[in-house]
Amino acid sequence: MTQTVGNPTHTKREDAIGPPPRRPTRVPSERYYSPKFARLETERMWPRVWQVACTVDHVAEPGDFFEYRCGAYSVLIVRGDGGELRAFQNVCRHRGNSLCSGTGTNLRELRCGYHGWTWDLDGALRRVPHRKGFGALPMSDLPLIPVAVDTWARLVFVNLDPSAMPLLEYLEEVPNDIAWCRLDEFRCYATMTVEVDANWKTIADGYSETYHIQTLHPELHRCMDDVHAPQQIWGHTGKSEQMYGVPSPQLRESSTDADVWDAYVRTQGALMGVAEDTPFPADQADGRSAADLIAERTRAFGAGRGVDLRWATDDQLLRLHQYNVFPNMTLLSNADHLTVMTSHPGPDPEHGELVMLLWMRMPPDSPRSRPADVRLTAEQAHPGLVLIQDISVLAGLQRGLRQPGFTHLVLSNEERRVINLHRNLDRYLDLPDSDRITGGESADAPDRP
Ligand code: FES
Ligand SMILES: [Fe+2]
Repeated sequence: MTQTVGNPTHTKREDAIGPPPRRPTRVPSERYYSPKFARLETERMWPRVWQVACTVDHVAEPGDFFEYRCGAYSVLIVRGDGGELRAFQNVCRHRGNSLCSGTGTNLRELRCGYHGWTWDLDGALRRVPHRKGFGALPMSDLPLIPVAVDTWARLVFVNLDPSAMPLLEYLEEVPNDIAWCRLDEFRCYATMTVEVDANWKTIADGYSETYHIQTLHPELHRCMDDVHAPQQIWGHTGKSEQMYGVPSPQLRESSTDADVWDAYVRTQGALMGVAEDTPFPADQADGRSAADLIAERTRAFGAGRGVDLRWATDDQLLRLHQYNVFPNMTLLSNADHLTVMTSHPGPDPEHGELVMLLWMRMPPDSPRSRPADVRLTAEQAHPGLVLIQDISVLAGLQRGLRQPGFTHLVLSNEERRVINLHRNLDRYLDLPDSDRITGGESADAPDRP
């Protein structure tokens, strides 16, 4: 197999485990179901972190708006008349009604549906019916409450904390690390929100480690290297790299190019525009490997929709770069693939939602189209074999987590992006030592007294 190397930082053959720690990391299980812990998250964490709310494709034109809900919080994102993006807490300053819901276009002003107080798209209060009844009521005292908003890679992020650090600082190494991939050329064509019987962290943990691939995703295991999948932790963010188009080195039986091809087609054939059950084109292979042919088909699929992928090396087409951004987001990308996933708290700590933002690389001048936003139950959702497998374990995980004999999760260094979520939570929630995660010391750390 010919593998050209795309980015010199991505050539390492480190494994996913990295240096083993002295002992496992232990995470109190209570934080996955306790209402008290969820309340702490609502008070101390969610209002202070940058969160993906929607995409630029949802709010591309003046007058476009999008309501972002995360647990108790509701934020309104509005494209103003001059093209600037603004975000506000979604609350009327009279008696607290929500101003808007869902997403839409052609908004001229924000008029509360209860008594008619009205703001312009800059958030300035413009009309108060029967205003004299309030006595002295300076309009400038009651603008909509602003929320920090910024964009990166056509993702719209919001932060309820007006003194939050800038988004780019929060994202640490991520923007530079993936800059080669031209993420701005992807367009979001759909979002899928799946309601599940699981805490938002149970959902996020599923896309924060590759340890489960060998068991939960046997088909994926036949077409990706889950062993040489190096990970990095920066702070709020972390990364995993996974090579596709090759069998896992863990497979006991040897596999042929046809086996790898079949597994790739079964799990993600759509990424190269190939229908399910398309056999390995042995007659065209001419000695080339499954990976070579997958890269070639992916380039051809791009060309068919006007996207030139000749700049991308085979490595850039086959190696998945997966980023995690605290608290709830992952971004998975290669040269012709982008999926972003987030998870949100539901009505109680044992319910949540998984949101998938689905993208396609498009020619730079392609016309605008609004993403289709779909909301489904776990039973209704069919987001492809691998995600169906991921979703299928969530309710059972959540039920197990609250069994009385189970007090702690026991985590490996292979799961260090899960550990990093909990380490950040400890910090944001300012937990006492007794409630923090323990263990995971590096093997060469000095002995604790
Ligand atoms: S609650 Fe909005 S105008 Fe009264
Ligand atoms: Fe998975």
